[in-house]
Amino acid sequence: MKDPLAIEGFDYVRFYAENGRQSALFFASAFGFKIESYRGPETKHFESADYLLTQNKIRLLISAPIRSTSEIAKLVFTHGMTASDVAFRVPDCEAFFNEAVKRGAKPDKSPQTTEDQFGTLKTASIKAYGDVIHSIIERSNYKGFLPGFVPYETFFSHPKQSELSGLKVIDHVVANVELGKMNHWVKFYEEVLGFSQFQHFSDNDISTEYSALMSKVMSGGNGKIKLPINEPAEGKRKSQIEEYLEFHNGPGVQHLAFATNNIIDVIRSLRERGVTFLSVPKTYYDELPSRVGSIKQELKELAELGILVDRDDDGYLLQLFTKPLHDRPTFFFEIIQREGSQGFGVGNFKALFEAIERDQALRGNL
Ligand code: FE2
Repeated sequence: MKDPLAIEGFDYVRFYAENGRQSALFFASAFGFKIESYRGPETKHFESADYLLTQNKIRLLISAPIRSTSEIAKLVFTHGMTASDVAFRVPDCEAFFNEAVKRGAKPDKSPQTTEDQFGTLKTASIKAYGDVIHSIIERSNYKGFLPGFVPYETFFSHPKQSELSGLKVIDHVVANVELGKMNHWVKFYEEVLGFSQFQHFSDNDISTEYSALMSKVMSGGNGKIKLPINEPAEGKRKSQIEEYLEFHNGPGVQHLAFATNNIIDVIRSLRERGVTFLSVPKTYYDELPSRVGSIKQELKELAELGILVDRDDDGYLLQLFTKPLHDRPTFFFEIIQREGSQGFGVGNFKALFEAIERDQALRGNL
């Protein structure tokens, strides 16, 4: 019998932003995404202005309200720019939706079939943490993205930019939930969506004097979907998770990680484009060789670009985190290159938290 909860991978992540046109151009110029297609009032789509951005297998959808009374306008006012939909591509939309709802998922939109010149598309959605939903997308008989989209250049001109094609695929999507709610959502992904727990690190591993969090990683779709879930833990001062929850006004997506197989070139290019990253003290690189052993990349280059390294039993990984991508200290991106390791960089947490705390102190939020 087929698994009704089978997932093929992330389909797209949708953001709500106050100004879709400007956000799309920012993601294009700063991160090298191509603004591929659009729907909005000009195409008789009056709910929102939607921009599809792509890079290799990554699809980001940016949606902005065009009326102050719309649901998107309310959510943008509450949360700021926020990832609102982490969509899963599935082989059978209806089977997934029905099974998830039978197991206790709250429905958002019931299964719907659309037919147009691109074929047949089936979509549905269920509610997750905070105001986040999971769209369930069955697109095996569909050649477009979503109904109503037209090429971006129908109405706009593409920004002139140097190519960046180093971001390959969404590696993981991280949730921040309220104190005491992590296990609730772990249970949701386990019991309702059939995920399993990937690994667990306690706050002893990742606490500093001032910041602490608890985190569990949920994995689905045979490992193609990885969703770490964070909650704040007691610390001497305000944790970064609490700061997020306060400025985001509730739980939501903390960061999206993009996998690359050439992190050195990618980070160099992103820095040239003006992307800013969390920085660790230079001393981080003094102890790096003894902590991670031999690696293929040159230490000098990693130190120059501020790239972080962590090792576990399976191998190592290189990673780096951007500063928040808008004015609220909430959402950011991670760039990750896996060299065997399937972890998330626990060994970097201490150095990183200290870096985040330096920024929190500047914002007066410690
Ligand atoms: Fe991450």
